[in-house]
Amino acid sequence: MKKIVITGAGTGLGKELALQYADNDVELHLVGRSLQTLEETAAEAEKSGAKVYVHAADITVVSEVKHIAAEIEEDGPVDILVNNAGIGMFGPFMESTADQMEAMFRTNSFGPIYLAKAFIPGFLQNNRGTIINIISTAGLRGKKNESLYVASKFALRGFTESLQQEYADTGLRIVAAYMGGMNTPFWDETDHIKDKSRLRTPKEVAEIIVKESAEKTEIVIESKNKSGSA
Ligand SMILES: NC(=O)c1ccc[n+]([C@@H]2O[C@H](COP(=O)([O-])OP(=O)(O)OC[C@H]3O[C@@H](n4cnc5c(N)ncnc54)[C@H](OP(=O)(O)O)[C@@H]3O)[C@@H](O)[C@H]2O)c1
Repeated sequence: MKKIVITGAGTGLGKELALQYADNDVELHLVGRSLQTLEETAAEAEKSGAKVYVHAADITVVSEVKHIAAEIEEDGPVDILVNNAGIGMFGPFMESTADQMEAMFRTNSFGPIYLAKAFIPGFLQNNRGTIINIISTAGLRGKKNESLYVASKFALRGFTESLQQEYADTGLRIVAAYMGGMNTPFWDETDHIKDKSRLRTPKEVAEIIVKESAEKTEIVIESKNKSGSA
């Protein structure tokens, strides 16, 4: 049975990834701060036959990441870790606050690093496994009014590309996924995107990621309209 960990699996892309992976031969571990949304995803994934566990944890807190990693690996190492949880705050650079900057770097850059550190020993023990880092086209190029979000995603890209080189001679695969805008709750607290219904659905992006991550180590899914956001 394949063991898959997905962060931010209660909503948006993380939820759709969980549903794409869900089948009889999969054990899913869903991570996020809100148990309620994780349980909603779990109920749907179980209908496809998956065995599902939910873990309430804040990925910006090292002790919480270590705790869930120990819990998840109790009966053996993980096959796939999807670092999907992320947040975005947008607007002119000079109107941004230190709190926003720290929250984005802690969630988008530090969180995936903490998770990688917690799970890589298990991957290496088996000399196999895959880490999929959900970045964004914001990790490929700068964007107006997205400076701090883009900076946090460039950090994640640099980390991902470096691990790809460091573990090139092992069975551990590191996949970088870069996607443009998706219609998810990510945009609920901002007017940076005027009409999110024009964006890709998280389902179509999840389908591409699950399919392509089996072969590729870099996946680029550009926005439909090339508006370039997020
Ligand atoms: N939507 C887009 O247009 C777009 C485009 C490119 C890339 N992305 C990236 O795609 C990923 C998924 O985003 P989405 O669009 O699906 O947004 P979303 O629906 O807001 O999902 C983000 C998830 O991350 C979880 N999360 C946030 N902070 C967390 C923390 N500290 N610890 C644990 N979980 C945390 C949230 O759950 P809790 O609040 O319950 O913790 C939420 O379920 C993000 O990395 C985002 O940067 C999004």
